[in-house]
Amino acid sequence: MGIVDIVDLRKYFPVGTGMFAKHKWLKAVDGVTFSVSEGKVFSLVGESGCGKSTLARLVLRLIPPTSGRISFRGEDIEGLKGDSLKTFRKSVQIVFQDPFASLNPRMTVFDTLSEPFKIHKIVNRSQLRDQVSGLLKSVGLQSDVLERYPHEFSGGQRQRLCIARALSVSPDLIVADEPLSALDVSIQAQILNILQELKRQEKIAFLFISHDLRVVRYFSDEVAVMYLGKIVEYAKAEDLFSTPLHPYTVVLLSSAPKLRPEGPKRASLKGDVPSPIDVPPGCPFHPRCPRRFDPCDKIVPPLEEPAGKGYSGRLVSCHLWNPY
Ligand SMILES: Nc1ncnc2c1ncn2[C@@H]1O[C@H](COP(=O)(O)OP(=O)(O)OP(=O)(O)O)[C@@H](O)[C@H]1O
Ligand code: SF4
Ligand SMILES: [Mg+2]
Repeated sequence: MGIVDIVDLRKYFPVGTGMFAKHKWLKAVDGVTFSVSEGKVFSLVGESGCGKSTLARLVLRLIPPTSGRISFRGEDIEGLKGDSLKTFRKSVQIVFQDPFASLNPRMTVFDTLSEPFKIHKIVNRSQLRDQVSGLLKSVGLQSDVLERYPHEFSGGQRQRLCIARALSVSPDLIVADEPLSALDVSIQAQILNILQELKRQEKIAFLFISHDLRVVRYFSDEVAVMYLGKIVEYAKAEDLFSTPLHPYTVVLLSSAPKLRPEGPKRASLKGDVPSPIDVPPGCPFHPRCPRRFDPCDKIVPPLEEPAGKGYSGRLVSCHLWNPY
């Protein structure tokens, strides 16, 4: 059992197709199963629109699932109420892509960072200043910024504040959806180091989403590759990056800049991602797959451990690896 266990999770959004036509479903998340373990970084990668943020919002209980189950420490989060919901809200924090939009411009640093202590009644007033200063220190900011407002900070400093706010309630899991992508490249490494320290010292687990595969490789313990709302490959980070198995993962990794200079010939992803409203039959990747063969457009490949030696603990959904 992990901190978070997700079983056969689906999120379908209704999309109108005209006044009289029956509405269709956009399958943003379509039968996803995985667990985030204590103190580990589980990353989601895949092209834009494959369902990563929807999955993050489901885990945070910001939106309800269409079906399936998300458990937090063994308890279904859909049924949480009262104190157990409060504990969940405290234990699972979010760090967003845009640090400016997620800070209240009218609140000082002190107010922003002390608010969670007050809501969760963690400390009395006299301890607040020390606690907030300690938080600032842990993200590399001085306590002389306490009375300043978000607009007085750079993007990198604002992201530090967002991380400090998440830390203020001692979370077990941080959901980080593209936490670096709005920042200058030089700042990204600093923020990544802070996250790495939190993982190491505070044993905080992460559900981590990033387009930058170099960052994912550096920071993750486990990685799931998503395509059209489904996980198509899952592996420990080192295995995925050294020997990607699914043809989609192979192309995704080889098209990333500077990721595998020693790797196979560079390939790029051809064609657009099909619409999640009209998912292709059979393997959803077949219209773009350089290795498709006879059954691929007819039979859906299950997500299974690949046949053959040396692949235990890995999962892939591809007929090349799972002869039927
Ligand atoms: N509230 C909504 N109503 C209808 N469709 C939605 C809604 N939210 C997301 N979608 C659709 O669900 C699919 C998955 O979106 P999502 O934001 O999860 O993708 P993503 O992997 O996070 O993409 P990106 O890398 O661009 O952030 C997309 O097709 C998106 O348009
Ligand atoms: S099942 Fe077929 S189309 Fe799908 S990834 Fe594997 S080879 Fe390609
Ligand atoms: Mg997203």
